[in-house]
Amino acid sequence: MNAAEFEERYFEDPGFAPGLKGGDEVRGYGYFPDYFPIVEAQLSALAELSGAESLLDAGCGKGALAAYARQDLGLRVTGLDRSRHGLASAARAFGGARSVRADCARLPFKAAAFDAAWCNGVLQYLAADDARAALAGLVRVARRAVFVSNIAAAQRHTEWGRRDPLTRLYLGPRSWAALAAEAAPSWRVAALPFEGESAILLWRAPLTAVFPLRFVELALERQRRLGALRRSPPGLDDFYRRQARAGL
Ligand SMILES: C[S@@+](CC[C@H](N)C(=O)[O-])C[C@H]1O[C@@H](n2cnc3c(N)ncnc32)[C@H](O)[C@@H]1O
Repeated sequence: MNAAEFEERYFEDPGFAPGLKGGDEVRGYGYFPDYFPIVEAQLSALAELSGAESLLDAGCGKGALAAYARQDLGLRVTGLDRSRHGLASAARAFGGARSVRADCARLPFKAAAFDAAWCNGVLQYLAADDARAALAGLVRVARRAVFVSNIAAAQRHTEWGRRDPLTRLYLGPRSWAALAAEAAPSWRVAALPFEGESAILLWRAPLTAVFPLRFVELALERQRRLGALRRSPPGLDDFYRRQARAGL
């Protein structure tokens, strides 16, 4: 199978890589119906609380989230992915001029080119050094905030994880936060308590120390409103305790 065939099968073939696919294909990347509202809530909370007007979607796939950010949130969005097939679809979804084919470990943008950067479901496919380089690149090109979310460590031992041949890094949120702190020493980093994934938030002034707390509360409230939150995430109490220890 050549690279183009691999890419097309990765995105389009419901029989390919069972475990990586599933749910509806309508959104462009195997989103389970319950998953899109979760991410929608996170993205809208990030945009609102960071005051972002421009966004980099690193590893945008077929552009489902980039299209949502542009159409529903009114952001100027640049999508980046290394997949030619994904990008061709993304260009149709949110405008060809703003889609870039590149490796997210080597971001081809000027420093502080975007207000915020978003990277959902991508870095777990990279080797650790490349993931570190991607995190360093994301904070280099973002002015205020970076949200990164990945596969949670626990999923490695599920049927899903056993059948997933592509994931290289199964890290919990605290380990992702430690990796990000190494890669972005001048930024603040928080491990977030969302269920079923590892998510981290990086931010800097003018955003203040209360930013992750407000982000989590707003995102959970929106997930609840969209019917995507069935129970309180198990990590939430621990998150609140850590925030309280930090005096927030
Ligand atoms: C699970 S999909 C997530 C797509 C999108 N972020 C979303 O949430 O719908 C993973 C994407 O990461 C892209 N990807 C994987 N490694 C990459 C890299 N090193 N640089 C850029 N994109 C990469 C893949 O091509 C694919 O589009």
